[in-house]
Amino acid sequence: MRKNKNNYAVWSARIKRPTSNNFKNIGSSINIDKRLYRQDIRGSVVHTEMLYKQKIISLKVKDKILWGLNRIKNEIEKKKFKFDISKEDIHMNIESRLFDLIGEDAGFLHTARSRNDQVLTDLKLWMKDSTNEINNLLIKVIKTLINNAQKNIKTVLPGFTHLKNAQPISLAHYFMSCVEMFKRDKIRFNNSLQSLNENPLGVCAISGTSFKIDRWYTTKKLKFEKPTNNSIDTVSDRDFVLDFLYNVSICSMHISRISEEMIIWNSDQFNFIKLKDNLTTGSSIMPQKKNPDTLEYLRGKTGFSYGSLISMMTIVKGLPLSYFKDLQDDKELVFKSFDTLKNSLILFDEVLKGLIINKQEMLKTAGKGYTTATDLADNMVKNLNITFREAYKITSKIVNLAEKLNLTFEELNIDQIKSIDKRLNYEILEQAELKNSVNSKKSYGGTSFENIRKMINKLKKEIK
Ligand code: ARG
Repeated sequence: MRKNKNNYAVWSARIKRPTSNNFKNIGSSINIDKRLYRQDIRGSVVHTEMLYKQKIISLKVKDKILWGLNRIKNEIEKKKFKFDISKEDIHMNIESRLFDLIGEDAGFLHTARSRNDQVLTDLKLWMKDSTNEINNLLIKVIKTLINNAQKNIKTVLPGFTHLKNAQPISLAHYFMSCVEMFKRDKIRFNNSLQSLNENPLGVCAISGTSFKIDRWYTTKKLKFEKPTNNSIDTVSDRDFVLDFLYNVSICSMHISRISEEMIIWNSDQFNFIKLKDNLTTGSSIMPQKKNPDTLEYLRGKTGFSYGSLISMMTIVKGLPLSYFKDLQDDKELVFKSFDTLKNSLILFDEVLKGLIINKQEMLKTAGKGYTTATDLADNMVKNLNITFREAYKITSKIVNLAEKLNLTFEELNIDQIKSIDKRLNYEILEQAELKNSVNSKKSYGGTSFENIRKMINKLKKEIK
């Protein structure tokens, strides 16, 4: 075997001393970015083919490089590849191995390329695939929510504002509100594909190259949509990373808010839902416990996602244009955020499928706290020809009286009602019954059963 010159860094002719062991160990990114091996090899293959097409390298060299790259891919996939921390990153590890395999011709590969554009190409390719994966997981969650909605159209619970009983709603309407959140997440991730679809390959270190490369060719082969416009901006830009981390943050915030609501619903005080046993954990001391740890895990992970976003925003804020080592951390943040969100979406889907709904308790609570007071006032406006403000005042008095007597609206007798206002009659109270209240909200986007059914059908078609 050829004497391996690659124990030296590529810059060893210039930099006389080997990198400090300390810095080699802590500054190496190989343990993070080896995850990009497939994208790195794919980028190198296309780059090599382009160099050949442009007559920058010979057929023989092209074939040798492609053979070597393919072999390296196999080695990595069969776990036979030895990642070397002293080779800093995935790009150097692969290049070094290529030298081992094909000798000096490996040196042609890095013609008209810098690690600055290489790493961006790899990362964008990886993020495009990941966006797709998240998209599929979001579709799964949305389908589960729609399914839950379908089973609970007539399940009535109190809608809360300020966590005080506000107005009765259908549980299906609640699930469908979650669908809207995840639909927006999907759109957000898809919108970010626009910048992910701009090909950085070929901008090299900062100024482009004098070789006659064809960036449209590599764009097409790597399934990007267009080459980036400006070499300086390209090597500096991490907006697409921030977009991704922001999208992850918003999505995990959505999961967190819903989880928090479920945790409240699961409390002994609310008793609206239970989780299937396999989604709870026990206590090491209190034998009776069934804790909603899965939901708490999901809520907690938002902190992690926000942290990644803030880290990246802080890393870029003080950097002049072009590449700096600071940017190396972008990948760790993206990978961890992605992994966390992926796990969260998978777990969240399982939790949604494992909800046990206590319909009686929901209905019972919906009737507490005079949740149909707004309906009562609305009915007065419709039947007594008075303004909403006047009706609101009369209703407040009815609520005060009922509360004082510890009665529901329906339990008040006609004399008590007339004592507040002579124009009142019993029918107005009856119209404010719970299910009537829910079903009367027929305005577009409201909670009436009919609206929900229509919305479920519409979104079911949309989400396919
Ligand atoms: N390991 C580096 C990173 O992940 C690759 C880019 C290095 N470029 C450079 N000029 N040092 O960011």
